[in-house]
Amino acid sequence: MLIHGGLNPQEATGARGLAIYPTAAYRFESCDYAAGLFELSQPGNIYTRLQNPTTSAYEARVAAIYGGVGALAVSSGMSAVLLAITSLAKAGDNIVAAPYLYGGTYNLYRISLRNLGIDVRIAPDEDPQTLESLIDERTKAVYCESMGNPTCAVPDMEALAAVAAKAGIPFIVDNTFGAGGYLCNPFEFGANIIVDSATKWINGHGTAMGGIIVDGGNFNWDNGKFPQIAGPDEGYHGLDLHKTFGNAAFIVKCRVDGLRDLGCCPSPFDAYLMLLGLETLSLRVQRQIESTRALAEYLANHPMVESVSYVGFPSHPSYANARKYFREGGAAVFTLTLKGTLETTVKFVESLKLAAHMTMVGDSITVVTHPASTTHKQLSGADLEKAGVTPTLLRISVGLEDVRDIIDDFEQAMKAV
Ligand SMILES: Cc1ncc(COP(=O)(O)O)c(C=O)c1O
Repeated sequence: MLIHGGLNPQEATGARGLAIYPTAAYRFESCDYAAGLFELSQPGNIYTRLQNPTTSAYEARVAAIYGGVGALAVSSGMSAVLLAITSLAKAGDNIVAAPYLYGGTYNLYRISLRNLGIDVRIAPDEDPQTLESLIDERTKAVYCESMGNPTCAVPDMEALAAVAAKAGIPFIVDNTFGAGGYLCNPFEFGANIIVDSATKWINGHGTAMGGIIVDGGNFNWDNGKFPQIAGPDEGYHGLDLHKTFGNAAFIVKCRVDGLRDLGCCPSPFDAYLMLLGLETLSLRVQRQIESTRALAEYLANHPMVESVSYVGFPSHPSYANARKYFREGGAAVFTLTLKGTLETTVKFVESLKLAAHMTMVGDSITVVTHPASTTHKQLSGADLEKAGVTPTLLRISVGLEDVRDIIDDFEQAMKAV
């Protein structure tokens, strides 16, 4: 799937590589054909804000990898989250989310969506019963990250899926840390919708921004709670997307209403980079999880280290869930707290030569991030504590370098401190 999924050999040329179609629009063969496209009775390309042949190949590959009925590529992980939620909830509705969230998502939920009238109820803990107690008749989804950023908390996805199913609402999982499905496929554990920041492991080289939404095709939209999907669509003269597109209705909704109106489409060139990235995903991630273990073990035994929070160690609170939901219980990210103060932590980060000080995970280069001053900077002191982010916490995303070089780099930075 990673290498062949979604790729149609170029019929006219026999080219092995996928063509990049740098086009905004498509010529219509007739007015009737164009009308069919616009009323959704005729499949085909209208305008690159809605679809593009390069992007379609990438979407087909991701849908095949996850075993979904369809995928929609968008311009960033954040737009994937926004589009998935706004396709389900409108002003007055709410969604219920598990607590360990990427800082950007946390702010989207806490501020921007609330400003739009969508209340996001972020649970104080990830106990499924706590999330269940926050659900009411206006709740439109249960949301979690398969592995929270940055603490690597892994919620009990099967239990959360059961809570969502009981309430008749979809279970959305941000699977960015599941590394494009290689480490974790939430559809196997009851998720209905996956969002993924393709900027990270799918691209794998830090060369483009992107997000993707994947529809598991396993939710019954016709339960009276989602009239915008199973009911007349105002944007298409009352067309019923569920009757017309069956179990792919949600992903069609995201494209034909969401992407059409919000406009957060990816460039065809970026879609090409994502598709290319996928070809080496399994090799990259396997190497990263092996190097992560080696680096975490080296650091755990280092006299200057206060603690290493690595989900592959039995001491991590999510060790059991990681073993259940993630391949080899593995992750390519962990957090590190050095002995000392904020100043020593800063000195360490600034002394690294090979590892880059950036806000990124899943890159081919090793990245060290100081969440309190970067990804989680906008959070209040109390919210930082809830998210598990202390002033001396560092997030490490292990790259593809030889792990001996990474360890040498960390060692020389420790000596500089
Ligand atoms: C778990 C998670 N979700 C979503 C995002 C947002 O993705 P993007 O930066 O592509 O908008 C990130 C970014 O780091 C992330 O880590």
